[in-house]
Amino acid sequence: MAPVSANEKNGMRLTFVGPPGSGKGTQAKIICGRWRIPQISTGDMLRSAKAQGRLPQDLIQKMDSGGLVPDEMVIAMIDERTQGLDCAPGYLLDGFPRTVPQAEALDEMLRRRDCGLDVALALEVPPELLIERAVLRRTDRKSGLIYHLKYNPPPADADLEQRKDDQERVVMDRVNTYHRMTADLLPYYEKQGILRRVNGVGLVEEVTARIMEALKTL
Ligand code: AP5
Repeated sequence: MAPVSANEKNGMRLTFVGPPGSGKGTQAKIICGRWRIPQISTGDMLRSAKAQGRLPQDLIQKMDSGGLVPDEMVIAMIDERTQGLDCAPGYLLDGFPRTVPQAEALDEMLRRRDCGLDVALALEVPPELLIERAVLRRTDRKSGLIYHLKYNPPPADADLEQRKDDQERVVMDRVNTYHRMTADLLPYYEKQGILRRVNGVGLVEEVTARIMEALKTL
């Protein structure tokens, strides 16, 4: 099959799957910028709901302690968000689905709209790198850009914040939650023939190049 150029990918619906700190958000921003499709991050949506006082206290505690919020809640969020006009040319889901019931609900939702998920891209990073990546992550409040104090230092004028769930102990809990709840998604998508595994270790640009390569031959 002839390689497809990035522009022709614009009707695509993708999801990035990977443990905390694997680089989903970093890479999603780059790919979405290139393809001009929206990045839809359930984590960002939940943090924004929390900042606006719209997230119940029990769910705030759930997130802050490294657990998952209920499937029905994120499924409803995605159902509504993906009907936005900006989603017509495709979109990239970052951190959704995270459980097999979420993946089944997404399939059903897309089936009702006569379409489907094109690619599930798994970013693979060994556990020993995940903790350092998450603990030293900082986000610029103004731009939303993600930095790393060691690997991708922020500019001097950045207005930095650290996520509450980026404390070392909580990151370890999130990694465990990933293996318990999310890793089952990989065989689910493998069976559908849409799983692409990408090595997430190396410079950000190197990982981006691998992702582009993995998406080229679809
Ligand atoms: P969410 O915000 O989705 O967090 P996550 O999946 O744990 O992923 P992270 O954001 O921690 O990491 P990332 O893979 O995006 O890495 P990043 O690019 O930032 O979810 C948060 C919480 O919300 C969940 O715990 C849950 O409670 C709830 N939630 C969300 N979705 C849900 C769902 N579907 N169902 C139920 N609950 C849900 O990179 C990390 C750091 O590494 C950065 O500092 C970055 O600069 C650096 N970095 C990136 N790439 C590289 C590289 N190649 N080399 C060196 N450093 C790098």
